[in-house]
Amino acid sequence: MTPVSASLRPVRVTRRAVYGLFRGAGFPMKLYPRLKFRMCPILRIEAYVPDGCDILDLGCGNGLFTAILKLGSPDRKIIGIDLDARKITAARRFLGKLRGVDFRLGNVVSAPYPKTGACTIIDVLYLLPVETQNAILKKCAGALPSGGTLILKEMDLAPRWKYAWNAVQETISVKIVGFTLGSRFHFRGREDYAATLAGLGFDVEIIPLHRGYAYSHILYVARKK
Ligand SMILES: C[S@@+](CC[C@H](N)C(=O)[O-])C[C@H]1O[C@@H](n2cnc3c(N)ncnc32)[C@H](O)[C@@H]1O
Repeated sequence: MTPVSASLRPVRVTRRAVYGLFRGAGFPMKLYPRLKFRMCPILRIEAYVPDGCDILDLGCGNGLFTAILKLGSPDRKIIGIDLDARKITAARRFLGKLRGVDFRLGNVVSAPYPKTGACTIIDVLYLLPVETQNAILKKCAGALPSGGTLILKEMDLAPRWKYAWNAVQETISVKIVGFTLGSRFHFRGREDYAATLAGLGFDVEIIPLHRGYAYSHILYVARKK
């Protein structure tokens, strides 16, 4: 397993490679990666995930980040879990051809987590109450070995204008368009997440990713002690 470095590796997955996977998909599925790339440096996040280990992608949605993980290191074995049957069906349809990738319909709160080298949670926890978030993080800690990595991407509460803009956009996405399942938002600040992860036995690196974007993206690279 390649350890995560504090310094960022170069981005190695291209947008073009991702678009290629979704060739033949309908309009919404083709649109999603294009929107996500505009709004979030998701390709940069892949560079923090260790190579050559099993990965649990919790709340994988339609499998975009799962696919990016696979493109970044083809020997990764990845299980993607999501609650939304439409998204899992789409992920299986267009990304099911990727070897070593398994999309499962399930609730990450109640689903058992197999032992794994890394867990990734990208833009999911804000949809769940704080106690539920903490229970999921605890399950991740239980599934990871010493040295295992948890990659958590959320929105920070600062810069305030970026956080406010994100709240407007999420309201449209979740409550008006219904693009994502959920009803309330539970955003938390970096001190809160860092303390929670430290309490679960992780060393935490906090990486603000909002530069050049209108959203307060923040990444937590947590390595289990
Ligand atoms: C904003 S989307 C992010 C999807 C994906 N991680 C990405 O970055 O493209 C949030 C996802 O979390 C999923 N989700 C929310 N609560 C969940 C739960 N309890 N169990 C599994 N998935 C959940 C939603 O269905 C949705 O697909």
